[in-house]
Amino acid sequence: MSSPRTISLAFTGASGLPYGLRLLECLLAAQARVYLLYSPAAQVVARQELDLTLPTQPHAAASFFAERYGARPGQLTVFGREDWLAPIASGSNPADAMAICPCSMGTIGAIASGLADNLIERAADVMLKERRALVLVPRETPLSAIHLENLLKLARAGAVILPPSPGFYTHPEGISDLVDFVVARILDQLGVAHALSPRWGEARVAPQKIERA
Ligand SMILES: Cc1cc2nc3c(=O)[nH]c(=O)nc-3n(C[C@H](O)[C@H](O)[C@H](O)COP(=O)(O)O)c2cc1C
Repeated sequence: MSSPRTISLAFTGASGLPYGLRLLECLLAAQARVYLLYSPAAQVVARQELDLTLPTQPHAAASFFAERYGARPGQLTVFGREDWLAPIASGSNPADAMAICPCSMGTIGAIASGLADNLIERAADVMLKERRALVLVPRETPLSAIHLENLLKLARAGAVILPPSPGFYTHPEGISDLVDFVVARILDQLGVAHALSPRWGEARVAPQKIERA
């Protein structure tokens, strides 16, 4: 599997930021170029579930994550919520693939309605219209008929709906194994090589496991 050159990754205000952070770490380890975006609600969730303060200013955020995950210079760019001059705001310069992880039901609804009211929604809108891979990792439970209709609409428009639903048949030893199970499925959809979790029918120990930062 060859890694796409550029991946857009957005964190929104659903629970499950550990999935998003691990995905970012793995994308950078796989030498992908990453465009990172996050919503104000994602910052609230980061504080609530991880005691983590995500910087508000894009350049501070880029330094924070580059240091945390050892990104090489120029590998990671963080865009602000209304940075309409970002390449991913236009169909003339989309990323190779995009993931929104975790994805709130609010953002699901906005994308399903074509609102494009901030850069996350606009970048997702661009991926759909340009027929590029858009992987949505929605988190809510239970799901209402509105949620289900929005998810179906997005699936029909070409998005991959990938709920964070880890399998237990791999005998996970802890939360990090459950997180890696989901992140492995997302990386598969993004076309990014990894050895995070064993594949069905293969040996149980992965040869090049990416250690956590
Ligand atoms: C701690 C916390 C957890 C939340 N978990 C979820 C969730 O799992 N799913 C969801 O759809 N919204 C969740 N929300 C609500 C969203 O953050 C809220 O709807 C927000 O407006 C989403 O905005 P965004 O899509 O721009 O990030 C949560 C909020 C907080 C503070």
